[in-house]
Amino acid sequence: MNRPRILTGDRPTGKLHLGHYVGSLANRVQLQESGQYDQFIMIADMQALTDHADHPDMVRANVVEVVLDYLAVGLDPQKTTFFIQSLVPEIAELTMYFLNLVTVARLNQNPTVKTEMRQKGFEQQVPAGFLTYPVSQAADILAFKPAGVPVGEDQLPMIELANEIVEKFNRLYGPVFEKTKALVSGQSRLPGIDGKQKMSKSLHNAIYLSDSRQDIDQKVMSMYTDPHHVHVSDPGAIEGNVVFAYLDIFDNRYDEVADLKRQYQQGGLGDIAIKKRLIDVLDVLIAPFRERRAAHEKNRKRIMEMLLEGSRVARGVASETLQEVRASLHIDYTA
Ligand code: TRP
Repeated sequence: MNRPRILTGDRPTGKLHLGHYVGSLANRVQLQESGQYDQFIMIADMQALTDHADHPDMVRANVVEVVLDYLAVGLDPQKTTFFIQSLVPEIAELTMYFLNLVTVARLNQNPTVKTEMRQKGFEQQVPAGFLTYPVSQAADILAFKPAGVPVGEDQLPMIELANEIVEKFNRLYGPVFEKTKALVSGQSRLPGIDGKQKMSKSLHNAIYLSDSRQDIDQKVMSMYTDPHHVHVSDPGAIEGNVVFAYLDIFDNRYDEVADLKRQYQQGGLGDIAIKKRLIDVLDVLIAPFRERRAAHEKNRKRIMEMLLEGSRVARGVASETLQEVRASLHIDYTA
């Protein structure tokens, strides 16, 4: 069984939310179930430390939380290999070689990094580890020689950089790597419950995959709709209305949703009614996640064992790549 490999990952900095689900997790479950690929998913603990160097305890705690979310949505260690980045030290070694192939000017252009620097207030004092994390991410990826990298749009600059490194590496040292490609999932980004562009932990506008029914109740009831829709009889706007944005994504009774939109625009449909509907729709999605999470939460020790085993497998793959890399760099002293 020699299926093409795919690799992706997450920083363990918090529990995962619905934005992660529509942006990447649902796609990974699908890729897993298609059986077409040998899927690897990395818990990028070292990358998490590049912007949370002062909170290693937080990163550590979230390693298992993120894996619990994976298991909750149906990712399965029998079918997908989960591993911890720091347990594959070959990645760090490869990062060192790759750093020689990238200019600081090029790193300063990365749009995703620029946005993150602004958000984190790093403009004046950017840690070198943070500025260079895309190089480390290129190593995450290329150590596995994947046919594809399932990611959201914000990660496209990382894949682009990885491919530039492939070209430069091969030109200087010989053909070791092949270019890879992003496997961008169809779903666009999910707005936060406050109507902001993006659902995110730091914006406090997220619905978590581990939220209780009461959490969902409360959050949906507080959702941003149309501030001008004051009385039930008032005509309401669909554009920018988070409840309808979510119904479009999560409610597959499309005809009914289209009818509700018409009613809402004409006037005569209240926010409470559409919110109640959304609560039910989200709970149908999340209830099985909650149950699976609860079953696994009882056995965190087994989860760590599974991660250690996955990391052993991942390390086997990366070691082979690094042997080739060292040979092409003429530093294979023990070979
Ligand atoms: N940078 C990615 C994110 O913030 C996480 C990540 C780390 C990753 N290493 C990766 C994604 C390798 C894909 C491949 O979501």
